[in-house]
Amino acid sequence: MQITGDLKMVDVVQHDIQLLAVIQRLNIPLGFRERTVKEVCNINNVDLDFFLHIANSFHDKEFLDFKKFRNFPVDWIIQYLMNAHRCYVDYRIPEIERQIKNFEKQVDINEKNIALLLDFFRKYIREFNSHIEQEEKSVFPYILELSDILKSDNFDSPRRDKLPSISEFHDEHSSIEETLFDLKSILLKYLPPPVTNCLYNNLIFDIFRLERDLLDHAELEENVLYPLVKEMENELHSKQNLR
Ligand SMILES: [Fe+2]
Ligand SMILES: [Fe+2]
Repeated sequence: MQITGDLKMVDVVQHDIQLLAVIQRLNIPLGFRERTVKEVCNINNVDLDFFLHIANSFHDKEFLDFKKFRNFPVDWIIQYLMNAHRCYVDYRIPEIERQIKNFEKQVDINEKNIALLLDFFRKYIREFNSHIEQEEKSVFPYILELSDILKSDNFDSPRRDKLPSISEFHDEHSSIEETLFDLKSILLKYLPPPVTNCLYNNLIFDIFRLERDLLDHAELEENVLYPLVKEMENELHSKQNLR
């Protein structure tokens, strides 16, 4: 299904519940009533085309093509990515950590196993936070500066450091994804089944959802943001050469 402005927002979300994350990251509140996607975007000052591009890209990977994002200010993509970061750091990851810690209270689970699991997950949090910090303190400011320079008529190079190479960036994303995959495997393969199976299942579902969400996030960074920045860098170089 392709999402269009004339569909009712509630039907779109009922059809693909994962889109709730997109809606939240564009700061659109729930309570859609019978409104169409176009009406909901208008009321919340969200550009309809931008919404449709992001929502369709998440709904159907075939749609994810950086060329389709050329017409939007790069700041919008960055704001979207930063909103997603807040959701991971402030809510999703602490929630998984809380669930693991909660196992300590369960009498039928070996304390040593829980300590190992917590240790493993906390290492993951450190790796994840340092990746987010690098994006927010160095990668995104570099891109925003590049975009400002291109909008002005002075074509100086950005003062900030260049981007890490796309392969470095890709490696970091892969490592973060692998760690979550490993955590899920440890839970599935090695932890003895507790009586309160429901708690375990819930944790595994949450890790799975985070894993899927982070994969979409990394794809937006690698397959949309990065190619756009490469185009912007090329544009700046050709303007500098013409001076
Ligand atoms: Fe990110
Ligand atoms: Fe990233």
